[in-house]
Amino acid sequence: MADSKAPSGTVTIIDNTSNKQTTLPLVSGTAGPKVIDIRNLYKDLGYFTFDPGYTATGSCQSKITYIDGDEGVLLYRGYPIEQLAEHSDFMEVCYLLLFGDLPDKAQRDQFVHDITYHTMVHDQLNRFYQGFRRDAHPMAVMCGVVGALSAFYHDSTDITDPLHRKVASYRLIAKMPTIAAMAYKYAMGQPFMYPQNNLSYAENFLYMSYAVPAEPYKMNKILSKALDKIFILHADHEQNASASTVRMSGSTGANPFACIAAGCASLWGPSHGGANEEVLKMLAEIGDKRNVGQWVKKAKDPSDPFRLFGFGHRVYKNFDPRAQVIQKTAHEVLGELGIKHEPLLEVAMELERIALVDDYFIKRRLYPNVDFYSGIILKAMGFPTSMFTALFAIGRTVGWVAQWNELIEDPSQKINRPRQLYTGVTKRDYVPVAKRKAAAKAAQ
Ligand code: CMC
Repeated sequence: MADSKAPSGTVTIIDNTSNKQTTLPLVSGTAGPKVIDIRNLYKDLGYFTFDPGYTATGSCQSKITYIDGDEGVLLYRGYPIEQLAEHSDFMEVCYLLLFGDLPDKAQRDQFVHDITYHTMVHDQLNRFYQGFRRDAHPMAVMCGVVGALSAFYHDSTDITDPLHRKVASYRLIAKMPTIAAMAYKYAMGQPFMYPQNNLSYAENFLYMSYAVPAEPYKMNKILSKALDKIFILHADHEQNASASTVRMSGSTGANPFACIAAGCASLWGPSHGGANEEVLKMLAEIGDKRNVGQWVKKAKDPSDPFRLFGFGHRVYKNFDPRAQVIQKTAHEVLGELGIKHEPLLEVAMELERIALVDDYFIKRRLYPNVDFYSGIILKAMGFPTSMFTALFAIGRTVGWVAQWNELIEDPSQKINRPRQLYTGVTKRDYVPVAKRKAAAKAAQ
C-alpha cells in the first residue's frame, strides 16, 4: 500500500487441498483493526475472497474519517463529531474534510468566500427543471440535475488537473443546496429564489427553500444553526454505500459531477440515506405510542420483511454518536418552534424505549441511528418527508468530494473491479431455435 505503515506482521494461509501456502502482510493503520493485504492471494493460491456486502473488506486506505463502531466513536480528521457539532460550523468542517486541518482565520474567510460565490447555477439549468413532472421525487430530480452539471461546467471536468478538481469540488458543495431548494420550489409551483451572498450556507438553503419574492424573509437563527449541525453530522461516514459508489465511479476516471450523481442515487435507497424519509412514514403509520408494541413485534417477526427504520447500523454496535447529538437538537428545535406536543416525537421516544430493553434488539446490537431523529427536526422546520434525503445529500456532498479527491490523488488506486463466485450454467453449445424444444426434452 502506497502510504500506509510497513507490514506489522504476516498471516500464513495453508491450503490443505493443494499443500500450497502463502504468507500475506498484516498492515496497521493509525487506528482500527489490522488488515490482511490479500493482493497476492490469487497469484499464490489461485483463490478469490468472498465477502458479499463487504462486511470484512477494506476497499481503500483513507485519512478522512474514522469510526469505532463498538465504542460509538466518529472522528473527522481526528476530531470527535460531538466537539465539531458543538463548537464548529459546517464551512469549517468542509474545509477540514477537504484539506485535512481546521482553517486559520484567513483560510476560513477565503473558503467561505469561494463557496459562497459558487452557489448560483448556470441560468440555463433553471430550464432543465421544466422537463420534470411537478410530483417527481426530489432525489430523482437531484440525480438528474447533479449528473447534468457536467454538461454545464466543462471547464472543471479534467480530473488530471488539480485546479479543475478544486473548482469542481467547490461547485458541487456550493450548488447542492441551490439544486435541492430548486427541486423543492419546482414541486411547490413557486419561483426559484437566487442565493444571497450575505447569508451562511445553512441560512441560504432555508432562504432558497422558504423565501418568496413577494415579501422579506425572516431568518430564524436557531433553525439555521440546527440545520448547520445536521449538515455537520451527515458530512462524511467513511466507506459507506454512497461514498463507495462515488469511489467506484471515480476509479474509472469518470468526471466528478457524474460520480456525485452516482452517490446521490446510492444514497436514495431506504437502507441508506432514504431511511430518514421512511422513519417519518413509519412513525406516522404507528400513529400513537400505544401501538408501538405491535410494530416492534412485527419488526422481530422473521417471516415479516418489515424493519424498524432508523434502527441498526452496519458499523455502530453500541450507539450512533450522531443520533445522540441529533436527539438533543430535536428537542431544542421543537422548543424554539413552541411545539409542546409532537405526537411523532412521542412515538419515536416510546419506540426507542421499548426497543432498547427488548432482547431481540439487545442481542443484535440494534440502536437508533442518525436517521431516527433527523426527520422530526426537518418536519418541524417545514420540509416535506420527500425532501429529507435531499437534505442528507447536501450535507454528504463534501464527504463524497473529499473521498473522490483522495481516490484520485492515491497513486495505488486502480479501477475497482471485484471478482465473483460464479454459480451459473457452465459452458454449453448454442442450439438453433427450431431445435430448442427437442433439446430441452432430451435433457429432461
Ligand atoms: N429492525 C429489525 N431488525 C433489524 C434491523 C431493524 N432496523 N436492522 C437489522 N435487523 C436484524 C436483521 O434482521 C438481522 O437479524 P437476524 O440475525 O435474525 O437475521 C440482524 O439484525 C443483522 O442485520 P443485517 O441486515 O445483517 O445488518 P446489516 O449490517 O447488513 O444492515 C442496516 C444494516 C442499517 C441496513 C440495517 O440495520 C437496516 O436495514 N436498518 C434500517 C434502515 C436504516 O435505518 N438505515 C439507515 C442507516 S444509518 C444512515 C446511513 O448511513 O445511511
